[in-house]
Amino acid sequence: MAKINENYLKLPGSYLFQTISKKVAEYSASNPDKKIIKLGIGDVTKPLPDAVIKALHKSVDEMACQETFRGYAPDLGYKFLREAIVETDFIARGCKIEADEIFVSDGAKSDSASIQEIFSEESKIAVCDPVYPVYVDSNVMAGRSGNYKQESQTFEKIIYMPCCEENGFAPEFPDQVPDLIYLCFPNNPTGAVISKDQLQRWVDWARKNSSIIIYDAAYEAYISSSGIAHSIYECDGARECAIELHSFSKNAGFTGLRLGYTVIPKNLKVDGVSLHSLWARRHGTKYNGAPYIIQRAGEAVYTKEGQAQVKDLVSYYMNNASYILSGLKKAGFDVSGGQDAPYIWLKTPDHMTSWDFFDYLLDKVGIVGTPGSGFGPHGEGYFRLTAFGTYENTVEAIDRIVNCLD
Ligand code: MLT
Repeated sequence: MAKINENYLKLPGSYLFQTISKKVAEYSASNPDKKIIKLGIGDVTKPLPDAVIKALHKSVDEMACQETFRGYAPDLGYKFLREAIVETDFIARGCKIEADEIFVSDGAKSDSASIQEIFSEESKIAVCDPVYPVYVDSNVMAGRSGNYKQESQTFEKIIYMPCCEENGFAPEFPDQVPDLIYLCFPNNPTGAVISKDQLQRWVDWARKNSSIIIYDAAYEAYISSSGIAHSIYECDGARECAIELHSFSKNAGFTGLRLGYTVIPKNLKVDGVSLHSLWARRHGTKYNGAPYIIQRAGEAVYTKEGQAQVKDLVSYYMNNASYILSGLKKAGFDVSGGQDAPYIWLKTPDHMTSWDFFDYLLDKVGIVGTPGSGFGPHGEGYFRLTAFGTYENTVEAIDRIVNCLD
């Protein structure tokens, strides 16, 4: 008789952003005349950069010709893309990463969910609280559960590191030593950043304790302040303890194209076994490579034209972030994030729960955000707004919120 993977039953009924879209769809169905503005999921709204569009057209045409047609892509990604990545994202920043340490994939979300597969089921993981739900859900699916309650479930192999106002939304070293540490900076959901020195301390701590850091750098393009690392490999010793995840979604607007990459240094070992080899083995078995045309689009991001256009996109969204931050601050909200990150983290007014505030905003002003408690218990009483909307919608949304609470 077939048996299900019972770990799935330990998860909340649906993924956070599915729950939100279901609620919004139901609300819209019963309020069809209301204009809803969505600043919930971190999905981009601006069209792809021109350099990317040109590369897509060109590569689509290549696929129509006998001489230039391509079948399966190399498992780990085309050399042209891996070399472009290494040059701009690492060598230019003084990081020693080589092209064959890059694994091209269909995005940071799937890599962040799958990377745990190469570690023992017994591994203890540490995550920030609040946290991007994928890190926790994927580990629970794999059977790592334990001493932590989420919707009345207990997850004992998951160590939560509270990120709250008192510690500037930066995690502190946990009392128990984890095997894997998930860090994401600029942070989703709080929009907080940590300095390069703080990150160096995490690298030193991980090396001392033989832990592996899984560093999600999906939002690095949003860093404008000095003293913040764009890559964990800017820190000394990170090649010996860290895996890094990157996305093309947030900088170049690839949410609908799907492209990302993971870096695993060749010398990164656990018990003498190379993690690079394990991930290559896993990639070879479970993945047939990101599509040629999408990898060409990714390559275009690294051209001079592409880099300038990506910079413009990031500035566009950061202008939204400034509008949200200043509008909400003026209206008396307690807000953070939004300076080196496209997310704004605010305290709900009048001690409302995160979900009560979600319902309140949706009903009163037709604005969708993300309830902080959906990211973990320390997110309760908080709410996340994204800067990825259009400028016009962002202005209208903030004006509606401010006027409604006047
Ligand atoms: C978010 O809203 O947190 C992001 O869109 C999640 C993602 O990138 O998968």
